[in-house]
Amino acid sequence: MIKNNQILHELQTFRDMARWGASQFNAAGLHFGHGNTNAWDEALYLIRHVLHLSPSEDMHVADAQLLLSEREAIANLFERRIRERKPAPYLTQQAWFSGLPFYVDERVIIPRSPMTELIEQAFSPWVDQDPKMILDLCTGSGCIAVVCALTFPDAHIDAVDISQDALAVAKKNIAHYQLDHRVQLIESDLFANMPQQTYSVIICNPPYVDAKEMSALPPEYQHEPTLALAGGDDGLQIVQRILEQAANYLTPDGILMVEVGESEQAARARFSDYPMTWLTFERGGHGVFLLTREQL
Ligand SMILES: C[S@@+](CC[C@H](N)C(=O)[O-])C[C@H]1O[C@@H](n2cnc3c(N)ncnc32)[C@H](O)[C@@H]1O
Repeated sequence: MIKNNQILHELQTFRDMARWGASQFNAAGLHFGHGNTNAWDEALYLIRHVLHLSPSEDMHVADAQLLLSEREAIANLFERRIRERKPAPYLTQQAWFSGLPFYVDERVIIPRSPMTELIEQAFSPWVDQDPKMILDLCTGSGCIAVVCALTFPDAHIDAVDISQDALAVAKKNIAHYQLDHRVQLIESDLFANMPQQTYSVIICNPPYVDAKEMSALPPEYQHEPTLALAGGDDGLQIVQRILEQAANYLTPDGILMVEVGESEQAARARFSDYPMTWLTFERGGHGVFLLTREQL
């Protein structure tokens, strides 16, 4: 616990703390991939959290002096980020997705799917009418299910995960947004325990990291559940099973969207028989394909 440390008497302002944090993070060689892409943004994220400022709060508070107690709380988070090598959202137990806060802990991965853009755009131009039944396969923290429910107020969302731990976190987030009546959690190995139901949209961010990449993950990713990341030798073990079964759960005009991230090239080669559309994103991200029911 850092208390009354001499350094904290020299650092006075928001900007001082941000600069100090960023310097320490760079010196420690941290990896950034869970909401921020660099040391400066990571430091700002942790400072704003301690000060109860919104993540979009900008540098107009830069020259504001901080209380010693605030500087101590920030320094403690900085110190834990370096020592424990945990992604910042596990330290704050809060991750931002589609501009909304979600509870997270080490039972789920930190939400970061680019597919949030597709939901925000109401799946345009791929669906004509607002979908009434949506399946969020591999729901984790429930972030995709919640954003779908908020975007489509008349839709029912089934949210599936094999992990009871993940479902407990999803339950908390769904309750926070008071969506229990429209988002149903289902414990299932993909479609195994699913009711015989069809959906106009199946959206899925499955585990897709290949074995080589799994063995070389930076320490930050090792705090995330292996079950949520590891997709077998080429990363596509779960995706193969989804492709085999998804048509049975789609309406005739339904669509399937699956994220495979860095396994995109492997997917293009392995699934060359499927006429996949590879989607593009304005805010960055790649490796998401779309197939219609007819194409499956
Ligand atoms: C990459 S995470 C995605 C979580 C969340 N949808 C997101 O975007 O942040 C993958 C999730 O799939 C779940 N999962 C892994 N294998 C599964 C399976 N066979 N059936 C259902 N869910 C599975 C994991 O527990 C994990 O929560």
